[in-house]
Amino acid sequence: MDSIVVRGNGPLNGQIPIAGAKNACLALMPATLLSDEPLTLTNAPRLSDIATMTQLLQSLGAEVTSMQDGQVQAMSCHGAINTRAEYDIVRKMRASNLVLGPLLAREGRAEVSLPGGCAIGARPMDIHTDGLAKMGAEIDLRDGYLHAKADGGKLKGAVIDFPFASVGATENILMAATLAKGTTVINNAAREPEIVDLATCLRAMGAQIDGDGTSTITIQGVDRLHGATHRVVTDRIELGTYMLAPAICGGEVELLGGSIDLVGAFCEKLDAAGISVEETEKGLKVHRKNGRIRAVDVVTEPFPGFPTDLQAQMMALLCTAEGTSVLEEKIFENRFMHAPELTRMGANIEVHGGTATVTGVDKLKGAPVMATDLRASVSLILAGLAAEGETRVGRVYHLDRGYEQVVRKLSGVGAQIERVHGE
Ligand code: EPU
Repeated sequence: MDSIVVRGNGPLNGQIPIAGAKNACLALMPATLLSDEPLTLTNAPRLSDIATMTQLLQSLGAEVTSMQDGQVQAMSCHGAINTRAEYDIVRKMRASNLVLGPLLAREGRAEVSLPGGCAIGARPMDIHTDGLAKMGAEIDLRDGYLHAKADGGKLKGAVIDFPFASVGATENILMAATLAKGTTVINNAAREPEIVDLATCLRAMGAQIDGDGTSTITIQGVDRLHGATHRVVTDRIELGTYMLAPAICGGEVELLGGSIDLVGAFCEKLDAAGISVEETEKGLKVHRKNGRIRAVDVVTEPFPGFPTDLQAQMMALLCTAEGTSVLEEKIFENRFMHAPELTRMGANIEVHGGTATVTGVDKLKGAPVMATDLRASVSLILAGLAAEGETRVGRVYHLDRGYEQVVRKLSGVGAQIERVHGE
């Protein structure tokens, strides 16, 4: 298993290009199941999760070709398709559940393995299945699989009130509703930029959708969707992660392709912590204003609130802030696994349930640490960049799921970072 070795060596300067969004691409790829014409995505990130989604779509009968070193995903689903998403693939990645809505819409039936829990929480699928049931699907759980069948072979439009603004459930219902009979309204829909990106792509395929980016999305079903070419939106989580590199280490870094509207709530917290963020022609420029970072309190919320996917990285910043910060995790019940690892590096963190209290220390110290999930692993790399001595982050396969070329991007701005194979 590979490790990443980081040595803290002072300020970072230069530019980091930001890739297309993993979580947008993982929702856009299953949209190919809604049409028998080709769907082409450009600006796709080169990540192991995208390879897993490719494998899943191929197992369902789609043709997927990666071009330009993986940045273009050309997909086509013109033949008969298999409606069973097997456990062997689904268990590797929860986002596999995003084929449920499209399969039901296209074929009137689907068997999709339940993904099971994951490190950050139980993550049930009741909001997805209750929504599809309102659209006329009969869904039972047998042998670990959700067996779903549309009444009369076709889903029907419905008014669906989500108890929580779930990202995945919004994406599944949105895709399912594009080919349903009649109008579907999703109340309390998720408003994340990845939802707007999916709706934009579906509209380019001929779908009739209004209100994406607000809490109420209205979809008028159509008989068929056609092919399209769509550019994947910038990855706001990769953007926020690399914005923290100069915040933690000093120096000035320009994040190419970044924009404030993707990371508004995060930028407000950076400002309060004493970090300057400036819009440029090419993206965002970030540097620390003066002196030590100030403590700030953070509560994670659905978009446009502070993203849960940046909570671990923000904690790494606050470990060396002046004063005490309180971080409340409101989206996932178990997303502080990075805290004990940061403590091994000398951080002062106390976790009680969904709240972590971080009292800043002068300096972190390098240590061998273990990545437990994707965002936790990158938070340990950020902490290592600011620590004295060497930090070795193990289990970096988590990192490969969501960050392309992390060593190249960070060494490009002067970080001492290398990947060590097989240790
Ligand atoms: N939830 C339910 N029932 C459901 C669906 C969700 O109780 O049917 C709960 C979940 O258990 C969780 C909360 O609602 O506690 C939020 O879940 P949501 O459905 O919004 O998240 P998701 O679609 O499973 C996506 C991202 C996550 C990101 C969350 C929140 C993708 C592929 N994944 O997950 O990304 O944290 O939204 O913003 O889009 C990551 O990239 O590291 C990551 C975990």
